[in-house]
Amino acid sequence: MKLIFNETSIFYTRKGSGPALVLLHGFLESATMWERLSMTLAQKNTVLTIDLPGHGQSECLDETHTMEIMAETVNALLQKEKIGTAGFIGHSMGGYVALAFAELFPEKTDSLILLNSSPAEDSPERKQNRDRAIELMLVNPKGFIQMAISNLFAETSRKQFASEIAALKKEALSFPVHGIIAGIRGMRDRKDRTSVLKHFKKRKYMICGTKDPIIPLEVSEILSKHCETPLIKVESGHMTLTENYEEVVKIMLFID
Ligand code: MLT
Repeated sequence: MKLIFNETSIFYTRKGSGPALVLLHGFLESATMWERLSMTLAQKNTVLTIDLPGHGQSECLDETHTMEIMAETVNALLQKEKIGTAGFIGHSMGGYVALAFAELFPEKTDSLILLNSSPAEDSPERKQNRDRAIELMLVNPKGFIQMAISNLFAETSRKQFASEIAALKKEALSFPVHGIIAGIRGMRDRKDRTSVLKHFKKRKYMICGTKDPIIPLEVSEILSKHCETPLIKVESGHMTLTENYEEVVKIMLFID
């Protein structure tokens, strides 16, 4: 289905009925990542998935896709679908967007599940890496996308998930280059939202990968303590939903 937000076409899906759940994908991903899990969740929920601006089948909104503008896009989706409040499951960048949404629209946020994500801002070193990533995207987008996607998986699972990795790369290679760059800029410039997570008093969890190469386990442990948010550890890299699907389903049913 299509939503027009700020004269920009945004793709989304809706299935099931019951309390609303919005699933937000990560960087270089799309609503496709939730296809399997959304079938399970839709047995008890209205499940919305969206291609965030510049990803999947959605167009670009701007030169920088801030977490706030992406959260506003999600809000436009809720308005279009006449949904008052929703729970959020955000994978990595999708978690950053969920936190921005919770800050902008606390009264509309029922729960926050951060999957391989973090409420913290980028460190200075990580910001520099983002600038390097933008430079690389400008000269060799294919090379950057292929490297970045392989690096999301734990080294030990790259062989086992070779076909999933190939499918992700194929899809991401179809995204507009300026959309990917807008996402990198948005992540680089995002603000710290540890206090948003800490003060969010409804249902909240962090789910992390024990071998996550992007958000190390030790970082998740510190943040979960600081933000008073229960941490669930799963044996996987950054792509927990793919690398340990059965475990994620069990967790989702358990924390329901
Ligand atoms: C993601 O998976 O969304 C990104 O890798 C997150 C990040 O780079 O901070």
